[in-house]
Amino acid sequence: MDRRPRFAAAAIDIRPYPRVRPPRRARGFAWARRAPRVSAVPAANMQPASAPGAAAAISIRGAVKRYGEIVAVNGLNLEVPPGVCFGLLGPNGAGKSTTMRMLTAQTLADEGEISVLGYELPRESKQSRLEMGVVPQLDNLDQELTCRQILMVFARLYRVPRSERPAAIERALKVANLMPRADTIVKELSGGMRRRLLVGRGLIHRPSMVLLDEPTVGLDPQIRQELWTLIDGLRAEGVTVLMSTHYIEEAERLADTVAVMSAGRIIAQGTPAELVRAHAGEQVLEVYGAPERLEQVGELASEQGWISRRSGPAVAIMRAETLDGLAPEGVLRPANLEDAFVALTGEEIE
Ligand SMILES: Nc1ncnc2c1ncn2[C@@H]1O[C@H](COP(=O)(O)OP(=O)(O)OP(=O)(O)O)[C@@H](O)[C@H]1O
Ligand SMILES: [Mg+2]
Repeated sequence: MDRRPRFAAAAIDIRPYPRVRPPRRARGFAWARRAPRVSAVPAANMQPASAPGAAAAISIRGAVKRYGEIVAVNGLNLEVPPGVCFGLLGPNGAGKSTTMRMLTAQTLADEGEISVLGYELPRESKQSRLEMGVVPQLDNLDQELTCRQILMVFARLYRVPRSERPAAIERALKVANLMPRADTIVKELSGGMRRRLLVGRGLIHRPSMVLLDEPTVGLDPQIRQELWTLIDGLRAEGVTVLMSTHYIEEAERLADTVAVMSAGRIIAQGTPAELVRAHAGEQVLEVYGAPERLEQVGELASEQGWISRRSGPAVAIMRAETLDGLAPEGVLRPANLEDAFVALTGEEIE
């Protein structure tokens, strides 16, 4: 079996181009990027990992997006400081992709204010798009083009100067570990290869911020690990990462801050450890037994006002450290982010 890493992040320079501050309306190239404009972000909303006083890379206030009767985003407030990996964690239909699309102005909010890298959306979305990389959830690659052709198109779109394009394309192919398939057309690539091409494409212009919508969905565990290494490497280089996921482990491992999204809004936010402590406590008691026994335990939990959930063949009771003598017999284990997520949303997740 081929065990070579398919994302070769460590060996490739993925650092964003140095920031310079062009004049406000300059028609500069994408890499001649400016520092985010200082906006009126309340200090209390800033995330712990940000430098004090740093302007938000992403600021969303009161965003609403309706599709007919469906309210996909329902009064969303979100502040992402620069240089962090921020995870949006939520079940199917929570509004994660809609949020991502609002940030690229592919979807326009019905209400609210959005700014990205200091640019007001949708008015300045062209400028903000040039400075960020986007990896969409759905594969929107042109089926008939080769990997190299796709990267060439994007290098031009993102205004990489002509003389730098060959090197940028080589780098993106290396990041995606698609060098041997550079001249293969998309429809002949595997699903995992397409995903990797989307990631390479999103990084072609070495953006200072990337939006990754479910970056590892459908990837095998080894490639997922490699992509995690790449994302971690981006963050270590100071790139701001906003990532949506419904893989708990992905959020837990990568994100400095996790925002739990449900029904179109953020219902809790913090470091993974803070979320666990606040919503699942320190320990969980798992009670095993026959279905009738589990039903009794579930009833006891609701009578006592304990937060509990069915977890495979067991009932899991949160905050086990606070249970009194009524606690049934079971196995204690440390609480984790999945417990917090289920306690918050009432939904099981992968
Ligand atoms: N273009 C659209 N037209 C109509 N409804 C839409 C559209 N896009 C999203 N929705 C609806 O908005 C809601 C939120 O969808 P969204 O794709 O943002 O969720 P998500 O959190 O990304 O879910 P998933 O984890 O499945 O990707 C869903 O109810 C969805 O059906
Ligand atoms: Mg989605």
